[in-house]
Order: sequence, then structure tokens, then C-alpha cells
Amino acid sequence: MADLTGRTALVTGAGGGIGAACARALAAQGAKVTVADRDGDRAHEVAASIGGEAWEVDLLDVTPLETLDLSVDILVNNAGIQTVSPIEEFPPERFRAMIRLMLEAPFLLVRAALPHMYAQNFGRVINISSVHGLRASPFKVAYVAAKHAIEGMSKVVAAEGGPHNVTSNCVNPGYVRTPLVEGQIADQAAVHKISADEVLQTVLLERSAIKRLIEPDDVAELVTWLASDAAGMATGSSWVMDGGWSAQ
Ligand SMILES: NC(=O)c1ccc[n+]([C@@H]2O[C@H](COP(=O)([O-])OP(=O)(O)OC[C@H]3O[C@@H](n4cnc5c(N)ncnc54)[C@H](O)[C@@H]3O)[C@@H](O)[C@H]2O)c1
Repeated sequence: MADLTGRTALVTGAGGGIGAACARALAAQGAKVTVADRDGDRAHEVAASIGGEAWEVDLLDVTPLETLDLSVDILVNNAGIQTVSPIEEFPPERFRAMIRLMLEAPFLLVRAALPHMYAQNFGRVINISSVHGLRASPFKVAYVAAKHAIEGMSKVVAAEGGPHNVTSNCVNPGYVRTPLVEGQIADQAAVHKISADEVLQTVLLERSAIKRLIEPDDVAELVTWLASDAAGMATGSSWVMDGGWSAQ
């Protein structure tokens, strides 16, 4: 168990899904968590349930982040969005927005947090990447590009932060049971006229050695460990949690 008593954390996109699970898990180990999300109601709901604070923020609006001063010990860059489309039809503005949310905003938040982390000689940057940070799939050009890019950024943060005991890592889940994925399952079941379970086994989990969805709490456990003192030598790495999807 990680003891995070006295630590402060910021989790982006923590109004739901993986981010909310991370916020809850970090708080359960004693951290004081700020729940950042563009959905203010959900941010307040999660924050109230864990004794944390809500920050209603649209991270697509990056200009205010350039002058931000962030006093957090643990930064979890989690907010992300998906668009599935062939490249030749991919809307350029959507491409730019996805890069802004999943690369530029994390860069600006890290930039805002490092002075505090360096001053106290401790910090944890945890980027929720994806198996798509390491592998490509068709029709996900902006997502795969943004996730590959944050892998690179995370390693540079690890290289610069090392002398200050600031670690930086990526977490790389396969399919996680969130509303986003459950929606995809329902859509595919309707299109193929098969059951949701068949979609899961024959489409989403076809390449997975372990045939179940990852739970948000599974990811949160790993994030919590990476945030702990025990993970002080784990840095510049990509922590794959994909049920064996990328192993075969
Ligand atoms: N679900 C999966 O299977 C899966 C797998 C691998 C990686 N991931 C990654 O995990 C992260 C979280 O995914 P999730 O499935 O929990 O998604 P989700 O859609 O359930 O939650 C994302 C949260 O981010 C918030 N958000 C979106 N745009 C925002 C913005 N502009 N500003 C502030 N907040 C914003 C949303 O309001 C939402 O609460 C993403 O980076 C995603 O790429 C997800």
C-alpha cells in the first residue's frame, strides 16, 4: 500500500472513467486531490466524495495554462478524447484539438508544476497514455500521434527531472471499462447483430490473452504505486496494462 499522506495531486479528466478512479485511489492513500474536468458538476461530485477540490477547466483553452503556477506533488495527465476516421476524412480542426488536449495541455501543466516539484526535491508525473502510445491502429491518427508524442515528452521530463527526484512515466492500458468503451460495444453489437459479449470476445479482445476488459480501478492501482515513494527509481518508462494484447 502506498502512503500518500501529506501529498497533493492533480488529476485531469477526473470527472469520470479512469481519471475518477485515479482520484479516488490517490485520495484513499491520503493524498489531497484536485479533480480537474470540463464537466463542473461531475468534478464537484467526485471531489466531494473524496474530500478533494474541484477545478472546472476546459483544457482545450491552453492560453491560461501558460501562466499557471501549480503547487502539486503528483500530476496525472489523464484527460483524453477519441475520434475514429480515415485520414483523408479526418477533420483538421479535430486533429489540432486532440493534439492540444493530449499533448500541449499536459506539457503546459508539467511546465507549471516542475518549479514546485524541483523546489521540494520530489515529484511524480504520470501520463495516461495507451497501448496506442506504442502501437498503431487504423482510423485513429490523431489519438495514436498524440499518445506516441506524450511518450516522448514523458521521457524528457524523466531526463530533466531525475536530478530533482521527479519521476515521469506513462501508463499504457488496453481497453478499459469506461462509458466510452461500453458505448463502442453497444454500437458494434447493433451493427453486427450480435450480443455485447460476442463483440467483446471477438472484436475488442480478439488479440488479448486475458479476455476481459481492464477496470478503471486496475489502472488506478498502478498509478497509485507510481505516485508512491516506493516507485522512486521507476522513471522514463511505459507501464503496459493490456492483458497481453501487445505481447502477441
Ligand atoms: N477507456 C479506454 O479503453 C482507454 C484505454 C487506454 C487509454 N485511455 C486513456 O485514458 C484517459 C481517460 O479515458 P477514459 O476512458 O476514462 O475517458 P472518459 O471519456 O470516460 O473520461 C475522460 C474525462 O476527460 C474529461 N475531458 C474531456 N475533454 C476535456 C477537456 N477539454 N478539458 C477537461 N476535461 C476534459 C471528460 O469530461 C471526462 O470526464 C484518456 O487519456 C484515454 O486516452 C483510455
